[in-house]
Amino acid sequence: MNYRHGYHAGNFTDVVKHVCLVAIILSLQKKTTPFCYLDTHAGTGIYDLFSTEAQKSKEYLNGVEKIIQQPDPPEIVQTYLHSVHHVNSRYSGTKVAALNYYPGSPLLARELLRADDRMIACELHAEEYRTLKNTFANDRQVAVHHTDGFLGLKAFLPPNEKRGFILIDPPYENPDEFTRIAHSLHPALKRFGSGVYAIWYPIKEKPQLERFYRALKTDIEQEILAAELTIFPDLPNHLNGTGLVIINPPWQLDKTLNNLMPWLWNALTINKQGSFRVHYLK
Ligand SMILES: C[S@@+](CC[C@H](N)C(=O)[O-])C[C@H]1O[C@@H](n2cnc3c(N)ncnc32)[C@H](O)[C@@H]1O
Repeated sequence: MNYRHGYHAGNFTDVVKHVCLVAIILSLQKKTTPFCYLDTHAGTGIYDLFSTEAQKSKEYLNGVEKIIQQPDPPEIVQTYLHSVHHVNSRYSGTKVAALNYYPGSPLLARELLRADDRMIACELHAEEYRTLKNTFANDRQVAVHHTDGFLGLKAFLPPNEKRGFILIDPPYENPDEFTRIAHSLHPALKRFGSGVYAIWYPIKEKPQLERFYRALKTDIEQEILAAELTIFPDLPNHLNGTGLVIINPPWQLDKTLNNLMPWLWNALTINKQGSFRVHYLK
């Protein structure tokens, strides 16, 4: 386990993933009944953008920094930015919302949870886990576990609330990660077939993507929506874009994401390269 998200925090893939996360949580909150958010690969929750790691390649400059500079963001992006600014003023201890920190998926989700929603976060890396634990110290709505997120799918599903949103965001360090995800979903959906599952994936090569779609469609009978955005053309062996498949997408999420993607692409593309699409896997 060499991956450290601190090198990539706030980059264009984080932005798209996290804006989609906000869109999903807001959709779930259209109903008053509480839900449980399970983050299987949570990271540390908070990232210092002036750390040695983040400053090495400054990926956030082509991500969240670009979003902050855009005029008139759509409402969901405004909610996302509000959380980013709130976390920054909380961690900096000032009211000036400069961009010093970037909130990871668990902290962004936590910003939006209602008093009776709940969160479970899993992280396997010992050091990252300690930081995550510290991020949510004394927070009674959040349970943090030092465990394999794929085991977490077995241990924590179905949630008592019978409503749940599960984010699966592995580092893709191993070539078999795509297959492992597809296989882990089948038993999870057997335990909790009505949950909303979002799985992040890198867009590098088309054949790999096609194999991933096929594996998902073979194993899963629920509806699967995919939201994808690339900022480079099909460069071989390169991180060209970012994707999120959403199993059991909430009502009208397709419409919401279709409205968001052109704005996000315009803000994040480099020299108008790449594209975006929201499509169902059929
Ligand atoms: C892409 S990062 C997560 C980023 C986070 N979800 C966010 O959006 O802010 C992946 C994380 O998964 C952790 N990890 C790797 N393998 C894991 C596993 N099997 N179970 C749980 N966590 C794992 C890594 O240490 C890393 O912190």
